[in-house]
Amino acid sequence: MRAALVQQYGPPDVVRVADVSAPTPGRDEVLVRVRAAAVTVADARIRGSRFPRGFRLLARLALGVRRPRRPILGGVYSGVVEQVGPDVTTLSRGDEVAGMTGTRMGTHAELVVVPADRAVPKPDGVSHEDAAAVLFGGTTALHYLTRRAEVGPGTSVLVVGASGAVGTAVVQLAAHRGATVTGVASAANLDLVRRLGAHHVVDYRTTPVQELTGRYDVVVDVVGALSTRAGRRLLTDDGVLLLITGTFGQSLTSVGRVRSGPAPEKPQDVAELLRLVAEGALTPVTESVVGLDDVAASHARIDTGHKVGNIVLTP
Ligand SMILES: NC(=O)c1ccc[n+]([C@@H]2O[C@H](COP(=O)([O-])OP(=O)(O)OC[C@H]3O[C@@H](n4cnc5c(N)ncnc54)[C@H](OP(=O)(O)O)[C@@H]3O)[C@@H](O)[C@H]2O)c1
Repeated sequence: MRAALVQQYGPPDVVRVADVSAPTPGRDEVLVRVRAAAVTVADARIRGSRFPRGFRLLARLALGVRRPRRPILGGVYSGVVEQVGPDVTTLSRGDEVAGMTGTRMGTHAELVVVPADRAVPKPDGVSHEDAAAVLFGGTTALHYLTRRAEVGPGTSVLVVGASGAVGTAVVQLAAHRGATVTGVASAANLDLVRRLGAHHVVDYRTTPVQELTGRYDVVVDVVGALSTRAGRRLLTDDGVLLLITGTFGQSLTSVGRVRSGPAPEKPQDVAELLRLVAEGALTPVTESVVGLDDVAASHARIDTGHKVGNIVLTP
């Protein structure tokens, strides 16, 4: 099968496309033909060995000290079951499934093996491209807005970094829950953020977020623009600060009303997001759909920090 490989840490051009042997499913796994995957900030961070401050050593120990232990990156897929392991009773060949692969990664390839109990049936009304686009930002947004804060009708939510993969999902999910959303983005993306459901928008290049005078029940910093102190100043008395790109130091000091840390990849969240897309309550934002030969260029685009929504890969 063809796959995009990262066999050394480095700039985007370390990504190479090559033919490798196809994986085989274990007893409780399935082999999925990948119809769509996503190229995400997580992939670019791993390739470039660039992690939020303080996390580099831990990340290198987990992912490979000298080079990536798993050279095929990609943590999101949507595709068709091609083969099932002997103990799998819940899925059959031909089923359409989507999901996330965590530290196993491996979705930037024509085929990937995943545990059957983590492959979520994809609703017919959701395209493979939309399923792949929604999961990275969507699972993060859903986790933070449901388990790390309470967001409902009337909650005021400030989203710093509203135009990326995570931000576009946070804005939509918060608005869907009835919150009053203020989205912070650059001028070129303000219309998009409004269309996604933000009631107010702020151009961070003309109004630094630290200078905002409003107070919010929930401040979501997606891009690491706020110090803990600056974020706290934007909170109402009971407000909660969500630092999605928290540094190691911030995650150690994330107590009380300051919350940080990795979002888990729960199959029930994947199912919930696919349901919301099927119902039209959540619209994945995709800036480009690319092939395997464009993965290196997609990493370079992500490294600019100006990606809008998601990059979908159709291997
Ligand atoms: N905690 C977790 O489990 C978790 C999970 C997923 C992701 N993350 C982290 O979340 C971060 C965002 O991920 P992503 O996928 O959303 O990234 P992304 O798609 O690359 O986000 C890029 C967007 O951020 C905007 N942006 C950059 N600087 C900004 C600023 N100062 N103020 C407002 N907007 C700004 C850019 O808009 P302009 O072009 O207008 O600048 C661009 O549209 C990453 O650091 C990632 O590691 C954490």
